[in-house]
Amino acid sequence: MTAAKVSSYFCPTRVLLGVGSHLRIVDALQQFVARRVLVVVDEALRSGAFYAGLREALVNAGCELLEFSEISPDPGAASVEKACSLNAGFRADLLLAVGGGSSIDVAKAVGILATNGGRIHDYEGIEKFQIAPLPLIAVPTTAGTGSEVSGSCVITDDASGRKMSIRHAALNPARVAILDPLALQTLPAHVAAHAGIDAFVHAFESFLSLQANLVTDAMNLQAIELISGSIRQFVANRANLDAGHRMLVGSCIAGMTFGQTGLGNVHCIARFLGAQFHLSHGLANALCLPHVAGFNLPANPDKYARVARAMERRVDGLPVLEAAAQAVDAIESLCRDLGVPARLRDAGVQAQALEQIARSSFEADYSRWNPRHTTVEDFRQILAQAF
Ligand SMILES: [Fe+2]
Repeated sequence: MTAAKVSSYFCPTRVLLGVGSHLRIVDALQQFVARRVLVVVDEALRSGAFYAGLREALVNAGCELLEFSEISPDPGAASVEKACSLNAGFRADLLLAVGGGSSIDVAKAVGILATNGGRIHDYEGIEKFQIAPLPLIAVPTTAGTGSEVSGSCVITDDASGRKMSIRHAALNPARVAILDPLALQTLPAHVAAHAGIDAFVHAFESFLSLQANLVTDAMNLQAIELISGSIRQFVANRANLDAGHRMLVGSCIAGMTFGQTGLGNVHCIARFLGAQFHLSHGLANALCLPHVAGFNLPANPDKYARVARAMERRVDGLPVLEAAAQAVDAIESLCRDLGVPARLRDAGVQAQALEQIARSSFEADYSRWNPRHTTVEDFRQILAQAF
């Protein structure tokens, strides 16, 4: 970004954070008229102590609850429509999402349809709805997507399998996000690792984006430091509340920035790789991260040196290119330590798919944001190296 370029920063979400913060949900209720609450809750959490605490706090505050749990990992429009018809007779005045990015995204979509009508397909794209959705309180139970504060939700078109991105920076973030590390304790280790790397990639790609500004830079460096400094401890023990807290805050900060700066080639390639080989979003990102990080380095060595410093590498006094290379090295060891397969083929990717993935990645035009201009031949080489 040049000094002359005008940009902005905006986040409309109130964030409540810390161990036990979910029991303070009643504080957050005071800013809403909340009598009937539609809860979109991950099925696996429904019988646990964490959700029981939230539920009790809401019931004691006089709220009537209706629960919806039919949410798949890449939630489809049919799931959203089912929740909407359930809500038609209930007429919620507030939404609560308790779960990972899928639960939060379904709740966002329900909120849009409740006030704007129509089908979710009608709102694919940027600022396609104008009426504020139902207010949403989001309680993320993974540290990964940042969906609680980002302006987007992703819903799959069931017929074609296409992922529809519905974006509105002002109206689509949750009104309140509650970041409580108690919510993360029951996460499986591999989910914690892959979601955590996704959060790291949000901060890393947003920091390097051509649309970054000095506000997002400050936030992303802090997110990189929080996530890279705590992810190993967190994956090793999800009941480590200090590490979980740092992961949730890092993921949330990255969610506040990447919607405004755009992402880069990691997310670009991972999008097509994940769809074709049914890899989770986090794993697909993790597989691409070290290779894209190496490719993008020449575009902005100064920023890479700052990433290396944020990842606790000793780079003072080093020539800038050597300091920058330390960032790639730190990223490689992060992925290795977290058990990410070293090669795409180790994760089930097949060689004959790579040509189409290279073409699709080029056509997706992430060169709008990615720091290094990337040709279709570049994508071929990145994929061949990763394979
Ligand atoms: Fe992501």
